[in-house]
Amino acid sequence: MNNVSSHVSFFRTLTFKLSAVLVIFFSINGIALVLWDQRDLLRDIKLDTQIAFADEGITLANELTPLIQDPEATQSFLDSVAYYYQGMELFILDVSGNVLHHASDIPSQVKRPQIDMEPILHFIRGSEMDYPIDVEIPTSDDLEFVFSAAEIPEATEPRYAMITFLGGGDDPVLSFWDKYGALLIRTILFSLAIAAITGAIIWAGFTRRVNRAASKVRRFKTGNNHVKIDDDSRDELGAVAAAFNDMVDRVDRMLKELELKERSRSELVATVSHELQTPLTVIQGNIETMLLHQQEIDGPTMDHKLRTIHDQINHLSNLIGDLFTISILDTGQMHIKPEPFLLSELTEDTLAEFDHVITDKKLTIKRNFLRPPEPVLADPIRIRQVLRNLLSNAIKFTPPEGTITLSTQRSGDNLDFTISDTGSGIPQDELKHIFDSFYRSRDTHKQKVKGTGLGLTICQKILGLHQSILTVDSKTGEGATFSFKLPFFAGPE
Ligand SMILES: Nc1ncnc2c1ncn2[C@@H]1O[C@H](COP(=O)(O)OP(=O)(O)O)[C@@H](O)[C@H]1O
Ligand SMILES: [Mg+2]
Repeated sequence: MNNVSSHVSFFRTLTFKLSAVLVIFFSINGIALVLWDQRDLLRDIKLDTQIAFADEGITLANELTPLIQDPEATQSFLDSVAYYYQGMELFILDVSGNVLHHASDIPSQVKRPQIDMEPILHFIRGSEMDYPIDVEIPTSDDLEFVFSAAEIPEATEPRYAMITFLGGGDDPVLSFWDKYGALLIRTILFSLAIAAITGAIIWAGFTRRVNRAASKVRRFKTGNNHVKIDDDSRDELGAVAAAFNDMVDRVDRMLKELELKERSRSELVATVSHELQTPLTVIQGNIETMLLHQQEIDGPTMDHKLRTIHDQINHLSNLIGDLFTISILDTGQMHIKPEPFLLSELTEDTLAEFDHVITDKKLTIKRNFLRPPEPVLADPIRIRQVLRNLLSNAIKFTPPEGTITLSTQRSGDNLDFTISDTGSGIPQDELKHIFDSFYRSRDTHKQKVKGTGLGLTICQKILGLHQSILTVDSKTGEGATFSFKLPFFAGPE
């Protein structure tokens, strides 16, 4: 379900995620810094301790000088020193690093009877510059550094006194926490503070904007089509807001269009019913009179009634034909099959259908065709429909002895077709309506000119399918001019 929940749990918010990342980042940073620094600290402690305790080894060695030949005396001296100085462990080593004596007041035993003498000799002979030096401690598995050593003077063989100091000097672990524990805690607190401040800033800016946008989207979802996210910033969120607003606009427009279509559809149904009703009523009236008064009706009256019925049936048939054309045009079922043909020829052909009326009304037809004719590319069946409508209008609305001028003219890649008449013309304020379905001008009604008001609608739609438009130019009393363009046939490629 793509349900936009109204409440996002705190741990899922962007603010929280970003803050968490910051805390982790700063903590790692702090720990890394501390560890980096700790190396140096341990070095310093080693150095200080070795310098501080260097002399202790020498003192012990000197004290041992008279005793060293007597192992028992040596051992008891060492034991007493160990007893006296709690935390000291004392060793006597030979030149190979063998542990000859060991004294300790705390429980401790020698784990390595032999150790590497190299660093110890280095310590004894070297200067403070070489410190700190790590040595193996016989009682420990680790390298330790809190120690001191010296050669016992005047021994028959080289002997070395070594002291290790348990907890001697600074306790390095303790100093580490003393110094860095606080720093670490400060680092973590600092990172929390930074994260909180950043989080607050992000929340104030970003999350609040996101929440505001989300609430608008929710309102849109619940059917409010006019919500807009008022965020015109230039970042990603601004872009999202702009896209959303655009979508809202489009949906709004679509709905309005649909509404309009729906309304015009019902209007069309009402108009069509009315348009069909009128001739049917006339037919029905006449037939009823004829049935009721069969005996009384004389020849001419009967004739008149039959003619009326005939006319109305004709009108109905035209109306139904035009409605059918409009419906296939509107539902996109009319397909254009373009082919090359001569527009002037098609015009002549169509004109021939009106020979009778033209002669009756003594109309003059002037032709002003492009010579030599050049073929256009269009659907001749549909264009004939357009020509028929335009010709029928021109003939209908031109009084007897008027003139209708037909012309074709080159206009770039197109052939321009124009039909003008010397008829009643169309009032300026009605020009924009004449292409509407069922629209017939006030004068047309007055003059009782027959028609459905669908002709120009059909023409406009057919030309639309040819990417062309029908234009009109007219003034009341000065006739009307209709024109459209069709592309020349470019010849087989
Ligand atoms: N040549 C013309 N001269 C004057 N008025 C015209 C002309 N052609 C169209 N009209 C006006 O436009 C209206 C719509 O034309 P049309 O759609 O062909 O319907 P109809 O011919 O059935 O009346 C006409 O009723 C008329 O008022
Ligand atoms: Mg017409």
